[in-house]
Amino acid sequence: PVLVVDYGAQYAQLIARRVREAQVYSEVVPHTSTIDELLERKPSAIILSGGPSSVYAEGAPRVDPALFDAGVPVFGICYGFQAMAQALGGDVEHTGTREFGRTELGVTGGALHEELPARHPVWMSHGDCVTKAPEGFSVTASSEGAPVAGFEDVERRFAGVQYHPEVAHSPHGQEVLRRFLHEIAGIRPQWTTASIVDDQVARIKAQIGDGHAICALSGGVDSAVAAALVQQAIGERLTCVFVDHGLLRAGERAQVERDFVAATGVKLVTVDARERFLSALAGITDPEQKRKIIGREFIRVFEQSARDLKATGDAEFLVQGTLYPDVVESGGGTGTSNIKSHHNVGGLPEDLQFKLVEPLRLLFKDEVRRVGLELGLPETIVHRQPFPGPGLGIRIIGEVTAERLETLRAADAIAREELTAAGLDSDIWQCPVVLLADVRSVGVQGDGRTYGHPVVLRPVSSEDAMTADWTRLPYDVLERISTRITNEVSEVNRVVLDVTSKPPGTIEWE
Ligand code: XMP
Repeated sequence: PVLVVDYGAQYAQLIARRVREAQVYSEVVPHTSTIDELLERKPSAIILSGGPSSVYAEGAPRVDPALFDAGVPVFGICYGFQAMAQALGGDVEHTGTREFGRTELGVTGGALHEELPARHPVWMSHGDCVTKAPEGFSVTASSEGAPVAGFEDVERRFAGVQYHPEVAHSPHGQEVLRRFLHEIAGIRPQWTTASIVDDQVARIKAQIGDGHAICALSGGVDSAVAAALVQQAIGERLTCVFVDHGLLRAGERAQVERDFVAATGVKLVTVDARERFLSALAGITDPEQKRKIIGREFIRVFEQSARDLKATGDAEFLVQGTLYPDVVESGGGTGTSNIKSHHNVGGLPEDLQFKLVEPLRLLFKDEVRRVGLELGLPETIVHRQPFPGPGLGIRIIGEVTAERLETLRAADAIAREELTAAGLDSDIWQCPVVLLADVRSVGVQGDGRTYGHPVVLRPVSSEDAMTADWTRLPYDVLERISTRITNEVSEVNRVVLDVTSKPPGTIEWE
């Protein structure tokens, strides 16, 4: 893999994505990794990311100069660029000229910027700058505030840039990354959808052998693609179990029973566990507790199904559609902090009786969608809005009850219907509808006073759910959603719009 060493940059994940877009597999690793740990992974290249620190700050992470003796290509970005310059004997100074945002870059040839316009915009964010490149490097780019804004030593396969090539505000950035990977580092672009499928099918075969697996089908894209991959690997020995936990959206169960089975021909068993989840959630209001309970009950139901399903042999493997961002956000990735326990990662009970098969554990959502299409799944499944495993349970702020679920389901169905009718499905990532069940507000309907609940519309646009912006939905669509919900859902007398990006908000409210 290409390892992206994370110096605390909000950009590290994005860099990994961009590398993958250049069809090279990439993962993020913490900057606390030792050189041995890095080399053990047999990296085809190492990218040093940006970071908030100044190389002069006390305790600023350094780059061990020994890294440059390993014969591995290295690319430095922003802080990583300066740390690289410093480790190799160049000069980094605090000149007092800071550059933030759009900056004009002047380039003078070189392998990295070859064929790019002599002057073009890039995205900068730095206070210090490199004033002298290390020996053996040629300087191929500069800006007003950064005399050395790009350098390379093609012989040793080292290069770096002061700006951020990974952000969309650097329009030629992807080309620069691609040139480093393909031309300077000499890595062949092999991370394609077809190769991901082949590779995963081979891994699944190796892991499961002639055993049996059951798959936790949720109706969402991720578990559907995971199941389709596993089915391709082990065929009949996979049984999909769809747990109706009662926290589903309207029509969801029927859609899974119909569309997914039609597309894959997979064996599907539906378990009605609505009562069980409702009683386990009774009285619970804390979001983390809800997630843990739902995760635990899920697993228990699967274990029970596995015992009941004599036909499957004794399933010892459980397939889950865990994605790379789930792993990272649950603190399992690069030592990042635990933001939420995604129910399929942090919420697993300690005495889990299954071995996990997680074929999407290395993938971002858009990669999963491409894999789904490659496997022949229908658009209706592949392009549907993401829906969290804990379902509507984490979209009712307050205790989850059967009545509140009915209310939220009705409001959610209206929002989805209107968004689809307006042709907006591909503009948004998802639009959770959240019921503020413990909040009441006064309204007037007909001639009477009402004292009902607000629902929140949370439309977001995102590339991979790691970051998101609120979607500027047309007012007339918002109006239709609002009017219909307040007219048709009797408990709801107010519709409000969430206009928070992620960060600081998360997409879901709990
Ligand atoms: P947040 O709220 O963390 O959500 O910004 C990011 C994306 O993940 C979905 N999500 C989940 N998916 N299990 C899942 O399978 C979960 O526990 C979970 N929590 C959030 C959320 O809908 C969004 O797409």
